[in-house]
Amino acid sequence: MDVDGPSSSAHHEGMTSRDYYADSYAHFGIHEEMLKDSVRTGSYRAAIMNNPHLFEGKTVLDVGCGTGILSMFAAKAGAKHVVGIDMSNIIDQAVKIIEANGFADKITLVKGKLEETELPIQQFDIIISEWMGYFLLYESMLDTVLDARDKYLKPGGLIFPDHATLYLAAIEDQDYKEEKINFWDNVYGFDYSCIKDIALREPLVDTVDLKAVVTDPCVLKHIDLTTAKKEDLTFSSPFQLKATRNDFVHAFLAWFDISFECTHKKVSFSTGPHAKYTHWKQTVFYTPSTITISDGQTITGQLTCAPNARNNRDLDIKIAYHKGDGPETSVDYKMY
Ligand SMILES: C[S@@+](CC[C@H](N)C(=O)[O-])C[C@H]1O[C@@H](n2cnc3c(N)ncnc32)[C@H](O)[C@@H]1O
Repeated sequence: MDVDGPSSSAHHEGMTSRDYYADSYAHFGIHEEMLKDSVRTGSYRAAIMNNPHLFEGKTVLDVGCGTGILSMFAAKAGAKHVVGIDMSNIIDQAVKIIEANGFADKITLVKGKLEETELPIQQFDIIISEWMGYFLLYESMLDTVLDARDKYLKPGGLIFPDHATLYLAAIEDQDYKEEKINFWDNVYGFDYSCIKDIALREPLVDTVDLKAVVTDPCVLKHIDLTTAKKEDLTFSSPFQLKATRNDFVHAFLAWFDISFECTHKKVSFSTGPHAKYTHWKQTVFYTPSTITISDGQTITGQLTCAPNARNNRDLDIKIAYHKGDGPETSVDYKMY
């Protein structure tokens, strides 16, 4: 007898987050969080609306239009026509929003998965999309944007945004590591350390105080959306993190920057610990043991990132590292 209820069936073997991805965007709550992220939405608004000379009389494709906010920015910036496509049911609300704001003749909305849907216009001057996930690439729809570029962008057309850069640093994080990882060593006197291993392999999305950063940052990966290929989203990057003081390292920290370089008044934003809060926060990768470093010493390593074979929106991330000439430690993290 199958006694699984609806919530436990979500954890059936063989099920992946892909099965829930389309629906997760149907609820207004996730759009509320994105719209209220003023760094995110304000940067897109500035990049689009401060550059009407780029949009005047142009055709624009909004990949994953959600509630239609970017489509409306483009229409206000003077686009001749905007096509917004989204596979989530949120697009039913977007239709009403476009109508309520008087853009029904300028913006055409299409419900469907970009890869499988026929669009009313075949070639666009500009593609706009907000595709970034945690750690830039987790649940990211960058592959969809690259498909859209190859299929629908006119030669020399523009992509908003067109550059993304992923960074890594190391942090001191004793207190929080104690609370999140070492907690499992002793739960009301019981040994729960099997969960500690699992917890350690799951990167934590959280905000980190700039004061916790104990090394210079290092660029892990730069993506130029005008030229990137899907294969580039599987990569292995060396890193060297130079300590800026004597301290302990409990984790690696990753974040990303986004820029709209095709604009004359260049717009960019960072999701790093030095920058204003965004809903992407930062991503923490705890190390199995504490590393002691002195000012000027380096942690050298390699970060390998690949989409999971069963669900390409999930990520397998391996970090192999060593201090100076010390022995190498390697950890396989999973963002599922
Ligand atoms: C991060 S949200 C951005 C929404 C909106 N553009 C904004 O800025 O508020 C990404 C949207 O892309 C949609 N999406 C993801 N993959 C897609 C695909 N392959 N085809 C069409 N829509 C997709 C999701 O349903 C979601 O609404």
